[in-house]
Amino acid sequence: MTAAAPFEIFLAALPGLEPLLAEEARAAGFAAPAAVPGGVTVTGGWPEVWRANLVLRGASRVLVRIGAFRAFHLAQLDKRARKVDWAAVLRPDRPVRVEVQCRASKIYHARAAAQRIERAIAETLGAPIGGEEAIALKVRIDDNLVTLSLDSSGEPLHRRGHKQAVGKAPLRETMAALFLRACDFDGQEPVLDPMCGSGTFPIEAAEIAAGLAPGRDRSFAFEDFASFDAEAWAAMKAPAPAIPAEARFFGSDRDDGAIRMATANAARAGVADRTDFRRQAVSDLIRPEGPAGLVMVNPPYGARIGDRKLLFALYGALGVTLRDRFAGWRVGLVTSDEGLARATALPFLPPAPLVAHGGLKVRLFRTAPLP
Ligand SMILES: C[S@@+](CC[C@H](N)C(=O)[O-])C[C@H]1O[C@@H](n2cnc3c(N)ncnc32)[C@H](O)[C@@H]1O
Repeated sequence: MTAAAPFEIFLAALPGLEPLLAEEARAAGFAAPAAVPGGVTVTGGWPEVWRANLVLRGASRVLVRIGAFRAFHLAQLDKRARKVDWAAVLRPDRPVRVEVQCRASKIYHARAAAQRIERAIAETLGAPIGGEEAIALKVRIDDNLVTLSLDSSGEPLHRRGHKQAVGKAPLRETMAALFLRACDFDGQEPVLDPMCGSGTFPIEAAEIAAGLAPGRDRSFAFEDFASFDAEAWAAMKAPAPAIPAEARFFGSDRDDGAIRMATANAARAGVADRTDFRRQAVSDLIRPEGPAGLVMVNPPYGARIGDRKLLFALYGALGVTLRDRFAGWRVGLVTSDEGLARATALPFLPPAPLVAHGGLKVRLFRTAPLP
């Protein structure tokens, strides 16, 4: 290349969520989604890169494969890096930083390799190197094959730009969205999170129901690429007509501060009219009027907050409340601790794969509609 369409687009995912992200990409109309370790590959051109950043709720970031070549030593890397048509993708006035990972290759010194590529970019294109705001060029040298990928997202995509306030252990929006998908949420039914913290589940669900694109209010690294077309992007971003509010999205938490945060986050996301947050302990939970829906909950887990024995009692109480008052509702429970999940005595379906989250591995436990 450099980056003549169509090319490979890599949608990075939290390990364990690749198949769900592949499903999301397929449903969103991306071409040839294939789950691979660490993400999903699709093919497309620049408009698909922009659209992936704008609409995919489950991708952590979107990388663009701009080229690949073999290099067996640093002088060869230097020479081949100078042949890349950097001007087709990068601008001379925007800083770039190069991050290299080497594996099973003759070139094993990542920093030395990064310096060669940085120098090639600086000397052939004239772009400044480094700095906080720099566009990231991610380079993998694997079995002597050098693969160049531009990070088109910048800030990770779970930062939708609405959540200023977070609690002790917030769930990533990307993970919340894919767990909603795993529970077959389609925007038409109510969702309730009885331990909502900063409100991630109800806010994601309300946005999905309203047809709001997750990237509508933030900026992206690709806006600084040579290939960027501001007019086409503005047209792509133009808000779709709002879907009338029907289903409601409920969050409660025993902590006052959590409810204040969740309420403010929902207002910033533009879904205040669809969400309902209140301070309430799980034991006081009331089933909302209207049709059954989905309980999504991410209770505290021992390794992060509190003491495991108390947590057994808490999970037990949650299970009793849901079994007694939520017949017909489905449950999706996220925890790192299978023993705690079992303490709810909820009739879980076979467990989903483990997902890496903040140094822990968590898992989604789902039920069918409760009897
Ligand atoms: C792991 S955090 C949930 C984080 C949330 N998913 C988010 O994205 O911000 C667990 C939450 O459970 C709440 N909690 C703990 N015990 C509770 C109880 N008995 N009733 C209601 N909420 C409780 C805590 O206040 C905390 O906000």
